[in-house]
Amino acid sequence: MRAARFHKYGPADEVLVVEDTPEPHAGPGEIRIRAAAASVNPIDWKARSGALAGYFPAELPEIPGRDAAGVVDEIGEGVTGVAVGDKVFGLGGIFGASAEHVVLTAWAHVPGTWTLEQAAGAGLAVATAGGALNALGDLTGKTVLIEGAAGGVGSAAVSMAAARGATVIGTASEGKHDYLRSIGAVPTTYGPGLADRVAALAPTGVDAVLDAVGSGSLPDLVAIAGSPDRVVTVADHLRAGELNVRHIGAENDPVLLAEGATHGANGAYTPHIAETFPLDKIADAHRYAEQGRTQGKIVITL
Ligand SMILES: NC(=O)c1ccc[n+]([C@@H]2O[C@H](COP(=O)([O-])OP(=O)(O)OC[C@H]3O[C@@H](n4cnc5c(N)ncnc54)[C@H](OP(=O)(O)O)[C@@H]3O)[C@@H](O)[C@H]2O)c1
Repeated sequence: MRAARFHKYGPADEVLVVEDTPEPHAGPGEIRIRAAAASVNPIDWKARSGALAGYFPAELPEIPGRDAAGVVDEIGEGVTGVAVGDKVFGLGGIFGASAEHVVLTAWAHVPGTWTLEQAAGAGLAVATAGGALNALGDLTGKTVLIEGAAGGVGSAAVSMAAARGATVIGTASEGKHDYLRSIGAVPTTYGPGLADRVAALAPTGVDAVLDAVGSGSLPDLVAIAGSPDRVVTVADHLRAGELNVRHIGAENDPVLLAEGATHGANGAYTPHIAETFPLDKIADAHRYAEQGRTQGKIVITL
């Protein structure tokens, strides 16, 4: 099969190649898809660069990519509820998704409202956002502040929090405020003065805060929430430890993926594709992701 790989850690242009590689196969409890699209997440370029070698060591040569969508073409032992030919999206390991065939360990059926490219943008975003929102408790009737609301995780979190009954305030640069409104958030800018802007939008205060960017604002977010137990971060492990804030890691959770698909079917959540790149241009996609300015998701087509 064709796949993107890196044979050593380094910059996208220097180490990413597209080549023929052995096909993976579905083990017990797993399925394999003929992928139509895969998403590019920050972990892909961080892991490819070598920055995460101590946490997630690559078995070189390695295929980047955490999540994908496509058509099921192999079903592992013990798997029920899915058939060859079904369209699904989901998560595999830390690596392996930027390839024609991808093994998934958690998946959900693609709702009829999404293209496979949109579905490819949903897996890690939904698993991360949903897990973080779960940690914030029942959001019905609550006001939630999402820092970094326009990115892949943040935008999924806006839609999921709104669908769970919350009023959502989201931060992004001004050019993305119409986008935030379109997905159900009241927008504001991040940076100095955030507490005052949030107080003006939510005079009785916010009940919960999700840091979906890890820009260093966590102390301010704790002050805005009034307590570290009302705050979670998916992106600032270091400050989370210092401030007693919970750091949430994405889990390959089919329940969360199914929730994302249900919101998709109801029209409450549509993954926004910032840009698609063909597999041959994966280095461009990684370089784009590294800028950290994505609105929604970056997707590779296969
Ligand atoms: N814990 C986990 O398991 C897990 C899983 C997935 C992701 N993550 C981490 O979560 C973070 C977000 O991931 P992602 O996929 O959502 O990334 P992403 O899509 O690349 O995020 C880009 C967004 O970040 C916004 N942004 C940049 N600087 C900001 C700031 N100072 N304040 C507020 N927003 C800012 C940008 O908005 P503007 O252009 O308007 O600035 C852009 O919309 C990354 O650090 C990633 O590694 C963790």
